[in-house]
Amino acid sequence: MKELNYLEKDISKISQILKKGKGSFKTRGWFKRKRELKNKIFFILFDETSELQCVVDRDKALKDLIKDAEKVTIQSSVELEGQLKKDERAPDGFELQIKKMHIVGLAQDFPIGKDLSTEFLMDVRHLWLRSAKMRDALKVRATVFDSFRKFMEKENVVETQGAMFVSGSVEGGSTLFEVPYFGKKAFLTQSSQFYLEVLMHSLGKVYTIAPSFRAEKSKTRRHLTEFWHAEVELPWAHLEDIIDFEERMIKFMVKTVVEKNSKELKALGRNTEDLMPTIEQKFHRKKYKDVVKDAMKKFSYLKHGSDLGEKEEREITKSLKKPLIITHYPDSLKPFYHRRNPDNPKEILCNDILAPEGFGEIIGSGERVWNEKKLVEQIKKDKLNPEDYQWYVDLRKFGSVPRAGFGMGLDRFTAWIVNAEHIRDVIPLPRTMNRIAP
Ligand code: 4AD
Repeated sequence: MKELNYLEKDISKISQILKKGKGSFKTRGWFKRKRELKNKIFFILFDETSELQCVVDRDKALKDLIKDAEKVTIQSSVELEGQLKKDERAPDGFELQIKKMHIVGLAQDFPIGKDLSTEFLMDVRHLWLRSAKMRDALKVRATVFDSFRKFMEKENVVETQGAMFVSGSVEGGSTLFEVPYFGKKAFLTQSSQFYLEVLMHSLGKVYTIAPSFRAEKSKTRRHLTEFWHAEVELPWAHLEDIIDFEERMIKFMVKTVVEKNSKELKALGRNTEDLMPTIEQKFHRKKYKDVVKDAMKKFSYLKHGSDLGEKEEREITKSLKKPLIITHYPDSLKPFYHRRNPDNPKEILCNDILAPEGFGEIIGSGERVWNEKKLVEQIKKDKLNPEDYQWYVDLRKFGSVPRAGFGMGLDRFTAWIVNAEHIRDVIPLPRTMNRIAP
């Protein structure tokens, strides 16, 4: 392995080179393709900003350069010096004629070629992450996280953190990961919501971005066992407040991504026109009972009180062009912390938001029970022990206020925005039922 020759300040990134359009440049990156003709050796160089066709001309280059150009393999890291020329045959209309090449790290035979199985690509995920497809998706993902934070800043919502090791469930026991904890039992948290409710009393409107864990035995295209959860809790808020907040937030986030990542979205095959109704129009809105009634026409096994899973939500949303807000789910379908409708205790003051085009649920949301007695009743009704939730109940004893909040899966949100086939295509290191490495 050779040391670097060039100083950072002398280096041009590929996007800068393409912007300038002419001149002589020092640059560095990795080769992703190599093609040898009789007189010329072509390469595609990439860095984190873009790709550039480069060429070594055997008739003009010095012997050492030709030798290096013949030897260098794809995925080798190189430093290059060359002259940029217009070339209509090159992918971006430009070609760098290499004058000097310095092989920094010569790559061995790269195991990734064309038409490989998903399983194999998951085994070599640490290498597959270099692909243009993953790089583009991860850039969009970065904007999704960033735009969420920007919206929170605009709305004066304060970032804070809960804890990942917890002593009980938030979303029901069936998806809890248990971990040994110094002779006791602990769990990995399913949601930071309860801690946000704690912190709301000192910080006001709060949010967190943290992993949440679910031991879900679901092998669908939208389930991870570890996902990135953006959660918000607003004091003094009711259902209408939180729905309004969410709708404005989704519009802001989608608009930001479309503005910032049009190049990546296009490369990933996402037509940004299809996202415009989300940005420009009011979302669809229906009550659970009406959604189920409609869905029964397609799925005869459904009845009032049935849970809507991946399959049903895909059908419900497949022809929609903008998100659907579903409100007032039956009390049997949601965990104990949801507030019942005082006028009809069989339904709760909650909403999910389903992304269109078949993607389904991206947000779970609603009002929280803020009365101590009612909360204890609902904990017992869910066959849980109120003592395990003593501190959560405590919050209702000392100056409780109405509150509402939500959790959005940032991975699911990103999958929808880039129109991904599977959630694993938008998270660097997906954790699923049968995958915890690399
Ligand atoms: O609907 P969920 O389970 O709601 C909660 O966890 C609430 N405590 C959140 C809150 O109100 N603070 O999950 C919220 C969102 C879902 O809409 C989905 O986007 C995402 O989290 N999610 C998952 N994403 C990927 N893989 C999984 N297994 C997910 N489970 C939930």
